[in-house]
Amino acid sequence: MSSKTRPRVVLVGVMGSGKTTVARLLAAQWGTGARDTDEDVEAAEGRSISDIFVDDGEQHFRSLERTAVIDALRSHDGVLSLGGGAVLDPVVREELREHRVVFLSVGLSDAVKRVGLSSARPLLLGNVRSQIRALLEQRLPVYEQVASTTVVTDGKEADVVAREVREVIQSAESAHRAVAQPENRT
Ligand code: S3P
Repeated sequence: MSSKTRPRVVLVGVMGSGKTTVARLLAAQWGTGARDTDEDVEAAEGRSISDIFVDDGEQHFRSLERTAVIDALRSHDGVLSLGGGAVLDPVVREELREHRVVFLSVGLSDAVKRVGLSSARPLLLGNVRSQIRALLEQRLPVYEQVASTTVVTDGKEADVVAREVREVIQSAESAHRAVAQPENRT
């Protein structure tokens, strides 16, 4: 892994997996920044994701999202969380090959509890439970493909998940340092 600017970790997972909350907790613990591609898209467009879906459709949102992800992967050095569907884009998947990606997995029941009946997520309009079930079925293999590690979040508070992600990443960083500088090994 080269030393150019890159996120310390990239979090992926379906809506309700806790990516944004965990990213903030982890970033605070590391004293670094947390960035979220949904927020980047909204800031760049000056409108909400729901409005983008309604006005211009999902495909347009996906292209804005791809640009936001690539930009963040190249310019952010803290914790990065991706919108749940970003990994559907093959260009994004290819870019992620160069990064430490953690998949926050969540089962249907916890995901539904965490998302609640929020209408801020355009893909969940209608029956939240069946929409999330379909997304989980469709995307699970993709999350597993892009991630180097999976952290199971079911039944856990966000701070516990953040600690698990921190441990995984810190041990990967130590292993990487040991390989890069074998003379410093203790
Ligand atoms: C989406 C997830 C959302 C947001 C958009 C589409 C998806 O992000 O990008 O509503 O396709 O799963 P979160 O996963 O952060 O809620």
